[in-house]
Amino acid sequence: MKTIAVLSLKGGVGKTTTTVYLAAVAAAAGHEVTIIDADSEHSAHRWAAHAELPFSVVAGEPDRLARQVKAPLADGHLVIIDTPPNSRELLMRAASLADIALVPVAPTGLEIDRLRPTLELLADMQAQREELDVAILLTRYNPRRRLAKEAEDALVGLPVMESRIRELEAYKAAFGAEPTDLGEYEAVWKELMA
Ligand SMILES: Nc1ncnc2c1ncn2[C@@H]1O[C@H](COP(=O)(O)OP(=O)(O)O)[C@@H](O)[C@H]1O
Ligand SMILES: [Mg+2]
Repeated sequence: MKTIAVLSLKGGVGKTTTTVYLAAVAAAAGHEVTIIDADSEHSAHRWAAHAELPFSVVAGEPDRLARQVKAPLADGHLVIIDTPPNSRELLMRAASLADIALVPVAPTGLEIDRLRPTLELLADMQAQREELDVAILLTRYNPRRRLAKEAEDALVGLPVMESRIRELEAYKAAFGAEPTDLGEYEAVWKELMA
């Protein structure tokens, strides 16, 4: 199966939420899934400690990351790597192991402006690994508010996914339990696998 790295130099954009929900969707579709939690805050790992989840979460060790990805992959698992903010090194390391770099971002001008350094690094990784796909996922999206003009402009020409994740209480309250209401992330999963 594939390896998806959920990446952004920025924190609080929905990386861990996206990681856990995608894992739940893939597990519900019958896949074996392993999350490698490469964030030293271990949010995904702590999430799993509170719940019975239909997938495994492994605490990532930066110096063993390639081996930690390789083992479940060899057993046919989908591997999803959750990553910390503010680490160019771990971002590049995770991207070097991934088929897909998934970059969550909230649709405000400020957040999208902060996206640039992440995309620069991924463009450099793609220069080395043309097989790496990059997908930007708009999260915390409010369909009633129009996408801020500056945000829309900044996104032109970027690989933005059609599926979007709305800003919902259900996601906010999801930590520590098995995700339910998987619909929006099911659409993300289908789009990523298409
Ligand atoms: N779509 C969403 N709607 C509402 N709240 C969200 C959404 N996605 C994430 N959150 C909340 O935003 C905060 C940051 O999300 P998290 O997944 O931990 O981001 P990161 O891993 O990038 O730091 C958390 O409190 C989380 O519950
Ligand atoms: Mg996180």
